[in-house]
Amino acid sequence: MPYFDNAATSHPKPEITWKAMEHYLKQVGCNPGRGGYAGSIEAGRIVFAARERLKALFNAPSEKQVIFTPNVTYALNFAIKGLLSPGDHVILSSMEHNSVVRPLRFMEKHYGVKLSIVPCDRAGRLDPEDVRRALRENTKLVVLTHASNVTGTILPVAEVAAVLRESEAFFVLDTAQTAGVLDIDFQALGLDFLAFTGHKALYGPPGTGGFVISERAAERLVPFVQGGTGSKSDLGEQPDFLPDKFEAGTANTVGIAGLGAGIQFVTATGLEKIREHEQNLTRLFLAGIEGIPGVRVYGPEQMDERVATVSLTLDGADLGEVAARLDAEYGIMVRSGLHCSPLAHKTIGTFPAGTLRFSFGYFNTEEEVLTAVEALQALAREY
Ligand SMILES: Cc1ncc(COP(=O)(O)O)c(C=O)c1O
Repeated sequence: MPYFDNAATSHPKPEITWKAMEHYLKQVGCNPGRGGYAGSIEAGRIVFAARERLKALFNAPSEKQVIFTPNVTYALNFAIKGLLSPGDHVILSSMEHNSVVRPLRFMEKHYGVKLSIVPCDRAGRLDPEDVRRALRENTKLVVLTHASNVTGTILPVAEVAAVLRESEAFFVLDTAQTAGVLDIDFQALGLDFLAFTGHKALYGPPGTGGFVISERAAERLVPFVQGGTGSKSDLGEQPDFLPDKFEAGTANTVGIAGLGAGIQFVTATGLEKIREHEQNLTRLFLAGIEGIPGVRVYGPEQMDERVATVSLTLDGADLGEVAARLDAEYGIMVRSGLHCSPLAHKTIGTFPAGTLRFSFGYFNTEEEVLTAVEALQALAREY
């Protein structure tokens, strides 16, 4: 059964991921940082190892600057709600996911935060000069997705980072669609906040994610969670050192064990190899569906401007029905609709019906892609 919804969550997970989770649950099972006995120390070691792997993957300044959250949505909420004050100005692109747009709209409504949405073109491309033009003296945050979950378009993050060097604004990057596929160097880019999710191309389980934070952002960020950390328990206040300042309560240790193993898989396989395989599948798919009557493809034509996510429409067809028929008649799993990104669909002209989205992962094969091409050819003849 070809699974082409890797932009939602990757499936299957590598064996190493679920083996690490099984190991933790069966052999360890204790709470990290909460006791001096062997099981607790081993659990702490598992969490620390995952932090270290994330530090290496993103070239974070230290593993202490890697913070775990339940997913990238929580991480983005941390940045948006913890760094903004009433009246601050924020820049975002018109390709953002609702995990950026909704907390920002909330801050606009309740705290008078001002938003500038920089329009991307119909392929989802952003001009960094538009970010420069949108900057104001009181711009506190620039929040960008690294790649669109609708069109796969990669945004020019290095160029925007260069623009922001002249500004005091914090640069927040949503790497939900790129972590584990593209090389992301936190220090070289000069990022303040890199938000990641564990269950997509990092091949961890659902319920994992987090952020890497710069020292200057960590000083300013007001955490919206306080509680037990297993450290400085005599204090009535949250410790102010990292990572404890931003992590409270029992960690998702089993999830973090799986995430740590997922990153091990990514690192051992190599980002280049993963990217190359996914690009080959995307190229094969795009070539196969080119010229099918009624099929329109969105996003950039250049392969180096996109990740392995392809959105399309089929003239005259209800895309929800097409997705259901692909599932029922061909065993092909894809997603139709707005993909939690209505703003992106307004940008590319597919709102409100949305698109049919095929997103490929490392475990997909060329045979699976060709099956999808044949299925689309057959369905297009009918509509
Ligand atoms: C660009 C982007 N940002 C944020 C998210 C939210 O991810 P999560 O549900 O893991 O928080 C997604 C997931 O689809 C995404 O594609």
